[in-house]
Amino acid sequence: MSTHFSTDYPLLQAQAKALLEGEDHPLAAMANLSALISQSMESLNWAGFYLMHRGELLLGPFQGKPACVHIALNRGVCGAAASSGLPQLVPDVHAFPGHIACDCASCSELVIPIRSQGRVIAVLDLDSPLPSRFSQEDLDGLSDLVRHMESALDWSLAQYTLE
Ligand code: SME
Repeated sequence: MSTHFSTDYPLLQAQAKALLEGEDHPLAAMANLSALISQSMESLNWAGFYLMHRGELLLGPFQGKPACVHIALNRGVCGAAASSGLPQLVPDVHAFPGHIACDCASCSELVIPIRSQGRVIAVLDLDSPLPSRFSQEDLDGLSDLVRHMESALDWSLAQYTLE
C-alpha cells in the first residue's frame, strides 16, 4: 500500500535557494542540502549525495547511517541512475536487481542524477524505511532543487569529481 506524504516543495525550494545564496562550492551546498532535505521530508532514513569519481560513484555529504563508499555504475539504484542519466523511483528496493543494502531498514528509494556540462557528475539519493514512500510529486519537487544546484554551483570547484 502506498502512503502519501506531502512535502512543501515551494518552501523547500525557497530554503534551498537561501542556503545556496552566495555559496557556489558543491560540497558545502550538498552538506547543507542533505541536512535540509532530511529535516523537511518525513520517513527518510538516508538523504545524501554520491559524486562521480574515477568512473564510479564515491560517497559525498549525507545524513543517515554510514553508507557504502564506492558504487560501480552497473550496481544498485544509484549506479542505474548515474549510468542511464534517468531518475530512479523504486517502490520496493528488494525487487530491484543489484540493489545495495547500505541500511537493511531501507524499503524504497529515489535517486536523481545531477549534471554539469551535459555529464552526470553526481546523484541525489533518498532512502525510506517505508515501501512506496516516494511519489511523482517528490520526483518533480526534488528535480527542481537539483536543477537549481546544477546552475547555481561551480562544479569545477569539486575537482576530485573530474574523471
Ligand atoms: N541503496 C543504494 C546504495 C546507496 S545507499 O542507499 C545510501 C543503491 O542501491 O544504489
